[in-house]
Amino acid sequence: MSTKNIIKVSNLSKTYRKGSVGEVKAVNEVCLEVPEGQFLTILGPSGSGKTTLLNLIGGLDKPTGGKIILDGLELSKLSESELVRVRREKVGFVFQAFNLIPTFSALENVEAALAPTGMPKNERLERSTELLESVGLEHRANHLPAELSAGEQQRVAIARAFANKPRVLLLDEPTGNLDTKTGKEILKICHRASKDQGQTVVAVTHAGYVRGYTDRLLFMSDGKLFSEIPQEEFEESTY
Ligand SMILES: Nc1ncnc2c1ncn2[C@@H]1O[C@H](COP(=O)(O)OP(=O)(O)OP(=O)(O)O)[C@@H](O)[C@H]1O
Ligand SMILES: [Mg+2]
Repeated sequence: MSTKNIIKVSNLSKTYRKGSVGEVKAVNEVCLEVPEGQFLTILGPSGSGKTTLLNLIGGLDKPTGGKIILDGLELSKLSESELVRVRREKVGFVFQAFNLIPTFSALENVEAALAPTGMPKNERLERSTELLESVGLEHRANHLPAELSAGEQQRVAIARAFANKPRVLLLDEPTGNLDTKTGKEILKICHRASKDQGQTVVAVTHAGYVRGYTDRLLFMSDGKLFSEIPQEEFEESTY
């Protein structure tokens, strides 16, 4: 029996028009199928279109061409309120900037993601505490984001993204500006969590060391996806 493709992207494009400067094909005729449960990493240099592609897949942005089917739903056919529901129920995001709520503690940031589920407060706190434990941060539960290191903030963002057990997790530079050791720890946490819960993960990054922590690796360059490294476009020093 074949595994279901939870993400199906066909001929997807996003073109920005910049007046006199002309067009930027941020995403250019991309086709991609991601089987359920896969941890896919897309590696590409700055400006190659990684964030744009993730935002399109997660329904945060609208394509100028092509089609996205997420868990059987064609995103372009959904109303704005249906899209909001799909994002809330099916998709977890870790943004390039962590986007934590600055006045909420680590625990409250995770708990906030569970608020729309209608789960009672004591269960929300219990689950949020478990999630913080799963990223090794139970001892920082009451710290505000400003009182956490960058790696710790990233771990809170990951715990938050996993909170409502989304079918699909979209991680934009999950290792951000972290040092290699912390970055590898973050990837291990994401990989383990996705395997434990059977979630599909698409992570985009320019950190070459992700190679060891993923089920499948693709390369993005100039808005296009490649299954092999497009040698002439990538500088070995970076990847
Ligand atoms: N709102 C916008 N208007 C015009 N051009 C844009 C806009 N957003 C992104 N772009 C352009 O689209 C291209 C892809 O941008 P994107 O943010 O997807 O790249 P990226 O691969 O995520 O880069 P980085 O690794 O630096 O985060 C870039 O050339 C960028 O300048
Ligand atoms: Mg980006």
